[in-house]
Amino acid sequence: MTSWFDAGTVAKMKFTPGHALRLGGRWLAVFPLNDGYRVIDNACPHANAPLCDGTVRAGKVICHLHLWEFDLTTGECDVGPGWAVQTYAARVVAGHLQVALP
Ligand code: FES
Repeated sequence: MTSWFDAGTVAKMKFTPGHALRLGGRWLAVFPLNDGYRVIDNACPHANAPLCDGTVRAGKVICHLHLWEFDLTTGECDVGPGWAVQTYAARVVAGHLQVALP
């Protein structure tokens, strides 16, 4: 079952370019895009680099360690399907980011 978790006030988050947070026992990275926010697991599946510190380009985050790319909406990785990251639905309610976690 999926539940919405309050991740805090969006205005207080520091997007550099992602904002790292611990929520529901998971480390997550939040990224602002033109139409809202994307939330993915923060650890790169290759060697655990924090994806919040990557570079965002064309809706993807590029891991700073070895430059693998992850689609912020689907989680797909340019290296192959076995390397995708988990994505989570997100919404803003009264200035707070809410994230749907299983
Ligand atoms: S740790 Fe992210 S691509 Fe290697």
